[in-house]
Amino acid sequence: MTLDPALTQMLSAADLRLLAAAGGAAPSLHNSQPWRFVPTPDGRGLAVYADTGRTVPLADPAGAAVHIAVGAAVFNLRVAAGKLDREPLVRLLPEVAEPELLAVFDLSRPAAAAVPFGRDLYPAIAARHTSREPFAQRDVPEAVIGELIDAARAEGVALAALEEEGVRRVVDLTTEAESRNAADPARTAETRAWLRPDDGTAEDGIPRSALGPQDHDARVPMREFSGHPPQGPAQPSRRFEALPQLCTLTTPGDGPLDWLRTGQALERVWLLATLHGVRLTIWHQAIEWPDTRWALRDPAAGPGHVQLVLRTGYGPPGAATPRRSVEETLGDRGPVA
Ligand SMILES: Cc1cc2nc3c(=O)[nH]c(=O)nc-3n(C[C@H](O)[C@H](O)[C@H](O)COP(=O)(O)O)c2cc1C
Repeated sequence: MTLDPALTQMLSAADLRLLAAAGGAAPSLHNSQPWRFVPTPDGRGLAVYADTGRTVPLADPAGAAVHIAVGAAVFNLRVAAGKLDREPLVRLLPEVAEPELLAVFDLSRPAAAAVPFGRDLYPAIAARHTSREPFAQRDVPEAVIGELIDAARAEGVALAALEEEGVRRVVDLTTEAESRNAADPARTAETRAWLRPDDGTAEDGIPRSALGPQDHDARVPMREFSGHPPQGPAQPSRRFEALPQLCTLTTPGDGPLDWLRTGQALERVWLLATLHGVRLTIWHQAIEWPDTRWALRDPAAGPGHVQLVLRTGYGPPGAATPRRSVEETLGDRGPVA
């Protein structure tokens, strides 16, 4: 057998660790980290599986949030491939018969572009955090919003920056969904089950130090993770920005491919925002009820499925959350063709 001289070296153990760490740094619903990375038998690729043991069934019955999280991990892997000077050739949902196999990377070719996404996004992978703090009364400049719109569009997803009327509609819908969640003991218990102490022992879930305050004026509906009324030590409420800046991510369809694309767009937008010093919170509450999700759509924007609501602005970066070890996420779930 002659070896194609254009092929890269096989991935070393250090390469695989770098890839798994980058993938595993992605955001996920309640920091559930529903992914597993498996080297391909040729030694020059990586398969990405959904970890179905790490779902959040009441908040995410269809598994959309699992796919979004894995999509975000896939985007981080594409960025990390560039760090290894490899071209990431990705097939999404490559095996119909294997719905848990969400992506396969062929990393056997050298990188085609020196700066694949126009910016070096790699440092932002570790710097990106959810910020649940009040944001300043300072608009994100239109030029930056334009870059975020382009970044999402490059992944096949529409990012819309909402005008005041749209913001008020989405705030009302999120407030309604948050109060329904609060009144539902099973959902409150599910969310609370992902709360973790701040003693550094957790590998997943959300430590209390990463939770923000609630809005003193009850206008900005941040998710209450510890129940209503909050259990355990609650932070004193604080005054949030009067009118939050909100964006939506919308896809033409509403299936696994749309969700994977949403995750990639989310992470591409978030890494770019991080480089610009722009903070982000995800509001998922209104996505969790069919009627409030339906009403999130902008009637003027035509058909489409809102996948996520993003709150953007300037403020503290947010605390780091724990991750499962690379030994755990870099799995043995082969062989992958
Ligand atoms: C699909 C999805 C839904 C999320 N929903 C919420 C939410 O409703 N409220 C919230 O504060 N954070 C939400 N998050 C953010 C996660 O809690 C966060 O990504 C996770 O705890 C890891 O923290 P990090 O983003 O700082 O790395 C969501 C993330 C994803 C991917």
